[in-house]
Amino acid sequence: MIETDKMRIVNKVKYMQDLSNKIRKDGKTISLVPTMGALHEAHLSLVTEAKRKADVCVVSIFVNPTQFGPGEDYDKYTRNLNGDLGKLKNIGADIVFTPEVDEIYHQGFQTYVEVSELEKHLCGPFRNGHFRGVATVVLKLFNIVKPHVSIFGEKDFQQLKIVQKMVRDLNLEIEILPSPIIREKHGLAMSSRNSYLSPRRKISAFGVFKALSEIKKEFDLGCKISKKIIESGRKILEQSSITDIDYMDICDPETLQSKEIAESGDLLAIAVRLGGTRLIDNIRL
Ligand code: PAJ
Repeated sequence: MIETDKMRIVNKVKYMQDLSNKIRKDGKTISLVPTMGALHEAHLSLVTEAKRKADVCVVSIFVNPTQFGPGEDYDKYTRNLNGDLGKLKNIGADIVFTPEVDEIYHQGFQTYVEVSELEKHLCGPFRNGHFRGVATVVLKLFNIVKPHVSIFGEKDFQQLKIVQKMVRDLNLEIEILPSPIIREKHGLAMSSRNSYLSPRRKISAFGVFKALSEIKKEFDLGCKISKKIIESGRKILEQSSITDIDYMDICDPETLQSKEIAESGDLLAIAVRLGGTRLIDNIRL
């Protein structure tokens, strides 16, 4: 454990568990923001929220290998621990939990969590095993950090719903709080992966939010047939030179099942690929 002024940096599971037990014994509450680092303003907005929700705010930084498929960006995922620690110290995080991979996955590790229905939709079919990896590591982080409350961004809407479902199904005593999507200019949802985009591709990426906004406008004007609205969204993406579309879907925000007739409050979700970079975004109708 390292202590920099008041922020503690912990990289051992046992140490973190002992620390959390002590915090709880002292009658204090704990909030957790799980991240994979490469922190940007959106991550920091979750931390600000977490600080408001509990006495002690823990941020985890762990690039989780089990949620990356073969050929995905695990190796090239941006890692900048020093930069991240500086940002977290500035914003006033109390504890940063940043374990090595073999501290989380010991040799012979073989227990996984699957949220079987919710992972079948949206990103699930395009990222085999991704949500199993996410649910497993999040449950492990919950057991290590022992938070009362944990914050997840609505940008990864399916992830948020899967974590909420896991908590309910497994009777975990943790409150899961959603946090709104934070966007950069032209509405592009902030993401660690935006840094992979060339300037030309970044301009194309603005088309994602443009398509979402135009679809919402069409819905508000009275068009409710999902197929029709999605088709016009596809055209807007094409105008921005986005042709590699994993999915564009209008679905029920709880079950994530596709809907033929869109209703107010439904989730409109998109995943596209620009070069090698996969971008996701969503909006509520
Ligand atoms: P990561 O991509 O680092 O995201 C950490 C948290 O930040 C997630 O809850 C994510 O939804 C949120 N977030 C990222 N960009 C956001 C944006 N533009 N607006 C609002 N929230 C945003 O998601 C993960 O890491 C991992 O899957 C993790 C949950 C840590 C498990 O490994």
